[in-house]
Amino acid sequence: MSTDPIARAREAADALRERTGTDSFRAAVVLGSGWGPAADALGETVEEVPVTDLPGFPPPAVTGHAGTVRVVSSGGGEVLVFLGRTHLYEGHGTDAVAHAVRTAVQAGAGNVVLTNAAGGLRSDVPVGSPVLIADHINLTARSPLSGADFVDLTTLYDPRLRALAREVDPSLPEGVYAAMSGPQFETPAEIRMLRALGADLVGMSTALEAIAARALGASVLGISLVTNVAAGLSDQPLDHKEVLDTGREAAAGLGDLLAGVVAKL
Ligand code: 6GU
Repeated sequence: MSTDPIARAREAADALRERTGTDSFRAAVVLGSGWGPAADALGETVEEVPVTDLPGFPPPAVTGHAGTVRVVSSGGGEVLVFLGRTHLYEGHGTDAVAHAVRTAVQAGAGNVVLTNAAGGLRSDVPVGSPVLIADHINLTARSPLSGADFVDLTTLYDPRLRALAREVDPSLPEGVYAAMSGPQFETPAEIRMLRALGADLVGMSTALEAIAARALGASVLGISLVTNVAAGLSDQPLDHKEVLDTGREAAAGLGDLLAGVVAKL
């Protein structure tokens, strides 16, 4: 068993390749909170593996199961779909957060689609809207990289992939995603700060995975589902149930969007 996180993910990729018999994937799709119901619309399930069958995935969080990875046949190609992800706030560290995307890239996925649930900071983007992530502000104070890994993030959220997504849905807005460590939601003062910093969306995932995927040479697309308005911008209290309910309502549209994007990769 290796202690180097890249080698550890290569071991998981080897196990996944052996289990699925596939060594090239059109894309890997990580489904965030609320995106689960969209998975079925993406294509037909060929194989499903609990991630804990693969080396290096942390044990399940107290609130549920650790997640599964599906091989889905979509648009004439095979796609790796992660249902569930590891968040920084679970306390397993940045390598645990990055492990799924590192595994996917080394298993042969050159495109990584990261989805998430996000709080909306803009009044012109209503709850239930998918938003393309144009850029991020990493406010976790963490990085999945170490040593002299000076990766250029100028085009982290690939402009070419964003253009493909807008071919599928020309009305897709774009926004800047502020990544927080969580697990608490923000205070109204923090949301005012994030708006002043230029953020349009706020959430607790994606940024570190995007960095790790990019560092391994993958092309990254990020899509947030605005599941609620951020703190202080509405009278609604924030809770995780609203996040999941919004996802369920938006699921069919999100599934079609993902299937449309994957078909163009
Ligand atoms: Cl308002 N904040 C954070 N950090 N994550 C979220 C969210 C808000 N809404 C959904 N996920």
